[in-house]
Amino acid sequence: MRIVVLISGSGSNLQAIIDGCNDGRINGSVVAVISNRPDVKGLERARNHGIEAITLDHRNFDSRETFDAALAQHIDNFEPELVILAGFMRILTPTFTGRYLGRMLNIHPSLLPKYPGLHTHKRALEAGDSEHGVTVHFVTAELDGGPAVLQARVPILESDTEDTLAARVLEQEHRIYPQAAGWFCEGRLTLQGNAALLDNTPINTTL
Ligand code: GAR
Repeated sequence: MRIVVLISGSGSNLQAIIDGCNDGRINGSVVAVISNRPDVKGLERARNHGIEAITLDHRNFDSRETFDAALAQHIDNFEPELVILAGFMRILTPTFTGRYLGRMLNIHPSLLPKYPGLHTHKRALEAGDSEHGVTVHFVTAELDGGPAVLQARVPILESDTEDTLAARVLEQEHRIYPQAAGWFCEGRLTLQGNAALLDNTPINTTL
């Protein structure tokens, strides 16, 4: 399957997806990477693998609608079957999410429905939670609210800072995102109504 990945930064999840395609865990290939921020490391990662790397700076657009319309145009040029959000830090309009419904995945660093939005690691620490984690989910119009596909949990240690916790979560991100993308590319992962199905069965999201 043809995959377009949207990023805003370092692109370590993008790297995990590229690696998954290259070693056969994902039956697909990343055909383009689009960043809303110029000069980020993820763009360099794409170029290093001969993947087309495009910057579409949201600051050059006067509204979310016009940015999303341009983004959709760029994506559609590559005719992807799957769109992957990998640290893409923009809120998307319902028109955009509707266009890719059932074929767009996101990864969010919390055990959704806990902590949608920003600063998830800090919020988990401040709440005194004993565990934290990450969720891969289908993207719907609701921010970080679409049906979950996979979650991974990590313990929160007494000694944890935001950075150590984020690093422990990130390791899990790199494990579960290629797994979810792999399922999708084999046609095993589908969105039906408001449920994510694996082999036509509601998914047990903890791996
Ligand atoms: C990841 O931790 C990802 O889960 C998070 O941004 C980071 C991107 O890292 N995404 C969000 O917070 C989306 N709401 P990366 O650029 O190294 O993949």
